[in-house]
Amino acid sequence: MDAKPLLQQYQRRVEHRLQTVLSRSGDAEKVRQAMQYSLFNGGKRVRPVLVYMANQLLNGSLEHADAAACAIECIHSYSLVHDDLPAMDDDALRRGKPTCHIAFDEATAILAGDGLHALAFQLLADEHSLPAEINLKMLRTLAFNSGYQGMVGGQSIDLCNEGKQINIEQLERMHRHKTGALINASIELGALSSTRATDADLQALNTYSRAIGLAFQVKDDILDIESNTEILGKPQGSDLLHEKSTYPALLGMAGAKQKLDQLNQQAHASIEYFNAAAAPLHWLADYIVERQY
Ligand code: IPE
Ligand code: IPE
Ligand code: MG
Ligand code: MG
Ligand code: MG
Repeated sequence: MDAKPLLQQYQRRVEHRLQTVLSRSGDAEKVRQAMQYSLFNGGKRVRPVLVYMANQLLNGSLEHADAAACAIECIHSYSLVHDDLPAMDDDALRRGKPTCHIAFDEATAILAGDGLHALAFQLLADEHSLPAEINLKMLRTLAFNSGYQGMVGGQSIDLCNEGKQINIEQLERMHRHKTGALINASIELGALSSTRATDADLQALNTYSRAIGLAFQVKDDILDIESNTEILGKPQGSDLLHEKSTYPALLGMAGAKQKLDQLNQQAHASIEYFNAAAAPLHWLADYIVERQY
C-alpha cells in the first residue's frame, strides 16, 4: 500500500487546525509570532499522522483525534525550539530556516516553547466531544510522556551524557525517553480517541510504537552523519560536534543500520494482529526508516 496520500491528507488536516488556533492574535504578538514561526516551517508531522492512523485503525472518528493531533505537534515543536537553544544543542538551523532563538531572540524562544507546551494541554482540555474520562486519560498520557519520565527526562539524559562513554542499555534508555515517549503518546492518544481500544489493541500498538519510536531516533542519528545540511534542514554533524551519545557512535554505522532493520521488523510483526487494517501503519514504519530528512 502507498499511504503517501493519506500522510499528506493528515498533514494538511493538522496544519489547517493549528493555523486556526494560532491565528487568534492576543496581546502578546511577539511570542505568538514566535510560536507560529516554530509550528509552521515544514515539519513532517509524523506524530499527528500517527494519532490519526491509530484512531482510524480502531474505527474512530477523525474529529475526535484533532485536538490530540494538534496537542502532540505543539509539544514536539516546543521540544525542538528548546532543543536548539544555546544552552542545549546550540543549533542555528531548523527545517531549513533560522532557529527560533536566531529569528527572534533567546528569551522569546524560551517563552514560545513554554507557550506551545501550555497550548497543548489547553487544546486537549477544550475537547468536549469525547467522554470526560477518555479526555482525562489523554491528558495524563500527554503529561506523562512529555515530562521527566518521558521526553524532558530523555533530553536531560542526553545533555548529561555529552562527551561521555555510555553503554548500549543507557543509550537505548535515553532514546526511548527523548524521542520514543512522544511517539508512544501519539499512538496511545489516537487509540484513546477512537473510544474503542481494547487492552489487546493497546498492547499490540504499544509494541509497535516502542519499535518505531526507537527506530526514529536511530535514523535521526544516522542522518546526522550521512545526510547533508541542505536536505536535513538542520546542521549536519551537530551530534559529532557536541560529542553526543548516538547509535552510530556506539555501534558503528553498520551496527546502527542493523539495529534499525531489526526495529523495523519488530514494528511490522507487532501489528500483524490487525491484519489488512494496519496497512497505513506498516507503510509508516518503512517511511520512518527510509526517510531522508
Ligand atoms: C526531530 O524530529 C527531532 C527528533 C525527535 C529526532 P522530526 O524529524 O519529527 O522533526 P520535524 O518535525 O519533521 O522537523
Ligand atoms: C531531539 O533529539 C529530541 C527532542 C527534541 C525531544 P536531537 O537533538 O537529535 O534532534 P535534532 O537532531 O536536533 O532534530
Ligand atoms: Mg538534542
Ligand atoms: Mg538537536
Ligand atoms: Mg538529531
